Amino acid sequence: MTIISNCTASALKDAATSLIAGNLVAFPTETVYGLGADATNKHAVARIYEVKGRPSDHPLIVHVSSMELLDKWACKIPEYAIKLAREFWPGPMTLVLPRTSIAKDFVTGAQDTIAVRVPSHPVAVQLLKEFETLGGLGVVAPSANRFGKVSPTNSKAVEEEIGKFLLESDQILDGGSSQIGIESTIIDCTKDVPVILRPGYLTSEIIESFLSVNLKKFDSTSNKIMAPGLLEAHYSPNAKVILNGVPQPGDGFIALADVPTPIGAVRLASPKDNNEYAQELYNALRLADSKGIETVQVITPVEKGFGVAINNRLTKAAH
Ligand code: TXA
Ligand code: MG
Repeated sequence: MTIISNCTASALKDAATSLIAGNLVAFPTETVYGLGADATNKHAVARIYEVKGRPSDHPLIVHVSSMELLDKWACKIPEYAIKLAREFWPGPMTLVLPRTSIAKDFVTGAQDTIAVRVPSHPVAVQLLKEFETLGGLGVVAPSANRFGKVSPTNSKAVEEEIGKFLLESDQILDGGSSQIGIESTIIDCTKDVPVILRPGYLTSEIIESFLSVNLKKFDSTSNKIMAPGLLEAHYSPNAKVILNGVPQPGDGFIALADVPTPIGAVRLASPKDNNEYAQELYNALRLADSKGIETVQVITPVEKGFGVAINNRLTKAAH
């Protein structure tokens, strides 16, 4: 595997060529780093599942460089989904829509829907553009971590997570630290009203006021098949994560900067607001593991706005 630290135009052209040839390319997005493969190449997509150790019925998100390619992958697109795409793409939003025949079972986990995203990170955008220039239709990219583990937000974390499972012909593109730090908001657009399947930076408050609708609440009991990846336990470091508990000396500690560090605890992050909280969270959990810390105590942010998505990841990490 090669790590490309200087993502020049020609390096990204090479990476796109490599994707077309069926290799894997891990790349930065504004949310987290993704592990990319040509979404039409069954063999390449199968390797993603192998490298991640992910069950094959967990569907993948197809990434494209612009909204123009949406109807290659999705059909019966409701008006509100078009509005969302126009407003919030490129950006940290994934839309789930009825699939076309281009979206094969090996991408969708045999579901009738496909998840699509247009990322905004300049390296991702350029890589996708080059890939499309070469005739590619879309790049599947799950977060570039082993199944159930913490998503990587920089190239070093990608290397630590999956480096040893990649082949010599695979690449990791370095584009600095992901600005948002947690995964995209996933919105089910197959019903009359959108449903948030996974909260993210784009909050339900923003979507509700933009579309002037009341969003339906996601019911995880009746939607098991639709989003098998939305498991109760996920994003987990080796350390045990405890939310709003009483820290003991030697425990790791994550909280907003205005919360003082309890005596003897090891401060892992002091974000000054929720944006920094999300940016730093996954690295802080990795830091705990690299320090051999066994328990991480976390003071959760207020369950409002972006805090909802942060708490969603924390609850799963603590499960
Ligand atoms: O921010 C992100 O979305 C990152 C970056 C790399 O783009 N990607 C990402 O992919 O988080 P992944 O595979 O780690 O998580 C995708 C989630 C899974 O929980 C999966 O079950 C759900 O999306 N998903 C994918 N296709 C779906 C579909 N057709 N219906 C419902 N859920 C779907
Ligand atoms: Mg993931």
